[in-house]
Amino acid sequence: MEEKIKELQKQIEEYQIDGKEALENFRIQFLGSKNVLKMLFSEIKSVPNEQRKAIGQSINALKNAAQNKFDQYSNDANKEEETNVSIDLTLPGDAFKLGSRHPISIVNESIINIFSNIGFTVSEGPEVEDDWHNFTGLNLPDEHPARDMQDTFFIEKNPDWLLRTHTSSVQMRVMESNELPIRTITPGRVYRNEAISARAHCFFHQLEGLYIDESVSFADLKQTLLYFAQEFFGEHAKIRLRPSYFPFTEPSAELDVSCTLCSGKGCKVCKHTGWLEIGGCGMVDPNVLKNAGIDPTKYTGFAFGFGIDRIAMLKYQINDLRLLSENDIRFLDQFKATW
Ligand code: PHE
Repeated sequence: MEEKIKELQKQIEEYQIDGKEALENFRIQFLGSKNVLKMLFSEIKSVPNEQRKAIGQSINALKNAAQNKFDQYSNDANKEEETNVSIDLTLPGDAFKLGSRHPISIVNESIINIFSNIGFTVSEGPEVEDDWHNFTGLNLPDEHPARDMQDTFFIEKNPDWLLRTHTSSVQMRVMESNELPIRTITPGRVYRNEAISARAHCFFHQLEGLYIDESVSFADLKQTLLYFAQEFFGEHAKIRLRPSYFPFTEPSAELDVSCTLCSGKGCKVCKHTGWLEIGGCGMVDPNVLKNAGIDPTKYTGFAFGFGIDRIAMLKYQINDLRLLSENDIRFLDQFKATW
């Protein structure tokens, strides 16, 4: 028995633990549920009474030695693992997830570039607007039937406040506060109380243009719009102006560009007309100039308003307006490579 104990003690001392596998084998052999020390304990019965105590103590000492050795090595192994992770500076880092710009921003920015090349500045105005700047000042007094063209969200607390229905509200603000001549564009979000569908939303984006100076004519408007269309859609783009009505411009027109997909031959997107509507425009009504304190006998001007969501849908062939506000990563990811 003593011999066996000595032999096991030697084995424990000399056991080479050089990895996780060896550590596990050591554990099974000396500390596991069927370990060799247990067998020694069961043999203790055959030892003469007077020796039992001493033998029992020796086996216990063996057990402690095995446990100590195991604890020390498993601690070392854990430490090694931790330090390995924190100091290996050669490991490649975690990749950053690159974002992409929203198609509305991409379109806005490229339109801003195009107009800044011909001297237009960028103006901004509030989205919560008062009645004067959104309607009355723009020749749309209370009860004017044309107010019906734009279903409005009013602010309950103060019926004079509303969410602007168009960026034309900023026309009024710029005219009231700026020196003449004025040559500016205004990109921004607008709101209308409409049911949400693939073709309409309760908020969308417009880009307003305003040019006021002495002797600005309809020909200037046409030429500016043609310049924009060819810069944005390509040098072969054509424009078409259809007579229309807006209370703040006279004469007024809807602006169409030749269909970018079929080059005007007719396709599903342009509903076989060859033309795509992208906004409204006209000569600023003399009443509006007067409302802003500008002398209409001296100054004239033109204004236009583009639908940015519509232009983005045409440019990227997006068939559902809702995609532009849902922020679905699978949709947005597709604009990664676009500037
Ligand atoms: N504000 C008009 C709309 O939202 C568009 C427009 C702007 C028309 C400027 C003429 C001049 O429908």
